[in-house]
Amino acid sequence: MTLDIQQVLISDPVDPVCSQILQNHGISVTYARQWTKERLLQEIQNYEVLIVRSETKVTDEVLAAATKLRLVGRAGTGLDNVDISAATRRGVLVMNTPGGNTMSAAEHTCAMIAALSRHIPQACAALKNGVWDRKTYMGNELHGKTLAILGLGRIGREVAIRMQAFGMKTIGYDPVISKESAAEFKVDKMELEEIWPLADYISVHTPYMPQTHHLINAEALKRCKSTVRIINIARGGIVDEAALLDALISDRCKGAALDVFVQEPPKEGTTTWQLIQHPRVVCTPHLGASTVEAQERVAREIAEQLIDLAEGRQAVGI
Ligand code: NAD
Ligand code: MLT
Repeated sequence: MTLDIQQVLISDPVDPVCSQILQNHGISVTYARQWTKERLLQEIQNYEVLIVRSETKVTDEVLAAATKLRLVGRAGTGLDNVDISAATRRGVLVMNTPGGNTMSAAEHTCAMIAALSRHIPQACAALKNGVWDRKTYMGNELHGKTLAILGLGRIGREVAIRMQAFGMKTIGYDPVISKESAAEFKVDKMELEEIWPLADYISVHTPYMPQTHHLINAEALKRCKSTVRIINIARGGIVDEAALLDALISDRCKGAALDVFVQEPPKEGTTTWQLIQHPRVVCTPHLGASTVEAQERVAREIAEQLIDLAEGRQAVGI
């Protein structure tokens, strides 16, 4: 398959290396800086390719207006901001860069687990406010604790390998990874029912889809230790935010580390907002892939994959 590409629209902040590569191949690139949805709907008809991160919502409405569009390129992993069935119906290819930010997301998860255990953000904020408090921020060792990883794909297994270096026992669940292949990276694969009562920390690393919506819910939290800590660097909605907030308030959950939310950015008065304000929640604004290395890598990969398609070579990430 060969794609005739003249005009590419980049509608989210993507590293400039992407446009450099495309322009070096004679492709014209437009950056849609802070375009309103109306402007995007008006102008999208001029482009064969749309490149996004996670901010632009590539809905059926956008795709319907994009009469020349042949491909949506996602500089990153998650494709939940792209209506894939509408794109397929309209004959638009969707391509991502599956491994480009794996290391950054895995490292961020490990940093969040450590920060959560030792209350680093809260203690730092207190100290900056002039409060020298060594009692409130008593932490827990990771050594000897059990980390459950739900989703043993690219990121999940890198998290397992790194947290084993802290002396954590790693268990996990994934419907498509066999017990034998999980054992290769020292994760004891179990059923979810077995995992809940054993886990000290549960970190989710699945895509967000109907099967993983509220994978961690009120029922699951009731079966967990009251000292369990929940980590979500994957996608908002995999953890039921209302159930997590309830468990934190009623002391049936010791803490949570969250990088992703049902609503991004969150609005005041919502459950997401309340969760973020909870003193035992450590949080970041969707920074899992926000490293210089990962952003340069995904930008380069999406551009090179696009050029491969344009020049009739085998494409990946479709
Ligand atoms: P991946 O496809 O390599 O792995 C996902 C794994 O989840 C697969 O092995 C799959 O079999 C498993 N899975 C599917 N349904 C499941 C279920 N019901 N229960 C348990 N496991 C299930 O994906 P990845 O690259 O490791 O990414 C994982 C998640 O992290 C995605 O949601 C992605 O969007 C997100 N992500 C977030 C950031 C960030 O900035 N916070 C960065 C990169 C990726
Ligand atoms: C992803 O799925 O790749 C992440 O959410 C990172 C991002 O692009 O912001």
